Amino acid sequence: MLGGAIFDLFLSNDEMFDVLGIDKVTPRIDNGFHVKINLIDFKQLQSILNDFKPDIIIHCAAIVNVDCCETDKKSADLLHIEVTKILGSYNAKKSRLIYISTDAVFDGVNGNYRENDKPHPLNYYAKSKWRGETEALNSCENNLVVRTNIYGYKNPPGNSLAEWAIHEAKNKKMISGFSDVYFNPLYVKQLARVIKHLIIRSENGVIHAGTREAVTKFEFLMELYRRFGFPANRIKPISIDEIEFKGARPKNTTLNVNRLKEITGDAPSIYNGLDEFVNDYKKDGRMNHD
Ligand SMILES: NC(=O)c1ccc[n+]([C@@H]2O[C@H](COP(=O)([O-])OP(=O)(O)OC[C@H]3O[C@@H](n4cnc5c(N)ncnc54)[C@H](OP(=O)(O)O)[C@@H]3O)[C@@H](O)[C@H]2O)c1
Repeated sequence: MLGGAIFDLFLSNDEMFDVLGIDKVTPRIDNGFHVKINLIDFKQLQSILNDFKPDIIIHCAAIVNVDCCETDKKSADLLHIEVTKILGSYNAKKSRLIYISTDAVFDGVNGNYRENDKPHPLNYYAKSKWRGETEALNSCENNLVVRTNIYGYKNPPGNSLAEWAIHEAKNKKMISGFSDVYFNPLYVKQLARVIKHLIIRSENGVIHAGTREAVTKFEFLMELYRRFGFPANRIKPISIDEIEFKGARPKNTTLNVNRLKEITGDAPSIYNGLDEFVNDYKKDGRMNHD
């Protein structure tokens, strides 16, 4: 989801960058250069690094299914930690590593987390992502760790939060939205633009990338439905305490975006992001998909 948005942005905007996209399963052969590799095949990974010789690496790959990470810790460690170490160590003095992390590194007790607040992950996904951050920061000189939360749609279509909610609405089903879980997510295209800005500015260290407004997941889904014209009464507000997950979920992972505002002048708006998302979704003909 994010990797595709970053690929498209860097490819289309200007002549500054040559871009290579990496996909595990389905190469996006419609535009630009893509290779199909499994990043945890370290031999293959090293060989692609040696061939392409990247100046900048943006590590978007992850196992984003929190409960899968709980049952397959080894795979989470390989992708989030070991692959990061290899990417950072490749030409460690010259090339730049951007590591995409998550707001879930925090326990969600207080919210409004700053970059120097100490993480306290509640589940294995977030634990391994946090250890990946350490690898990114230690393995090379030019590093950037972007903690974020995102939404968008996948190509081919997937089951991300917004896609799932739209799918259920189209099938006239009721959904539940957590009214006690707070976040400030970016539309993937908003985050891609932020990342490009940070790269051009050569920013280093940890940065929190979120919207300037925070909402509950219930409010987020209501805003989404309003834009599509789906009936609001198809979303039932519930507490996350009502659901049992394999891996515990934090309640308030809102990110403080003061550093982002200082660098870029402002943080993106959640309402603009939703407008852009809905426009893109309709323009791409996604409404006709199941
Ligand atoms: N989505 C969110 O809500 C969210 C929130 C906070 C942070 N993030 C972070 O944002 C980044 C991007 O996430 P996303 O939402 O764009 O997730 P995504 O669409 O699932 O993208 C992750 C990609 O990594 C690929 N991948 C997994 N294992 C791989 C391997 N061994 N080799 C090569 N590719 C592999 C996946 O391919 P397959 O699908 O084929 O396995 C998938 O295309 C991640 O670092 C994630 O931790 C996401």
